[in-house]
Amino acid sequence: MNDGRLRLFFGLWPRPETAEALAQWAAPIARASRGRVTRAETIHLTLAFLGDVPEARLDDATRAARSVAFHPFRFRLDEARYWKHNRILWAGAGEVPGALPDLAASLAAALRGEGFTLEERSFVAHVTLARRGDRPAEIPALPPLDWPVREFVLVRSQPSAGGSNYAVLGRFPAR
Ligand code: 2AM
Repeated sequence: MNDGRLRLFFGLWPRPETAEALAQWAAPIARASRGRVTRAETIHLTLAFLGDVPEARLDDATRAARSVAFHPFRFRLDEARYWKHNRILWAGAGEVPGALPDLAASLAAALRGEGFTLEERSFVAHVTLARRGDRPAEIPALPPLDWPVREFVLVRSQPSAGGSNYAVLGRFPAR
């Protein structure tokens, strides 16, 4: 049951080998800190979170995304941190290329132009690797991972007992 509403967000999906490497790196840390590790197939970087929106608004979200032009870029995930406020272990880039916040900002502007309400909090590029864990006693160095970005995706999130499941509803290539 979804009352005709969909929980939607836009994000970047890593290559499977990158996701696998991140999941394997995070597993022992999550275990030790009693957190829940993000399954490899669900690892992603969120660009814009829409929340629950009426199904009828899907076309508007898609139109907004199609209006966003960006060139392919790449970044390197090479840092791991823990946020106390939401108890997540996450990976990020020591040097975030401007193209990444630019893409998030362009997308947010296009979505607002279609009448969507987005949170005002500033964009922090992060990839959640484990949830609901205690602060790890130690976070080992994350072996650097190259992440080429050639598209972003529109995703539907559906909660399940084992963590959220995600379905890609649209792909928006760089151009
Ligand atoms: P998180 O990993 O930091 O929790 C799907 O829930 C994705 O949208 C997650 O990557 C989540 O980020 C992100 N997101 C951003 N704002 C959110 C919000 N207010 N509630 C739930 N998820 C949010």
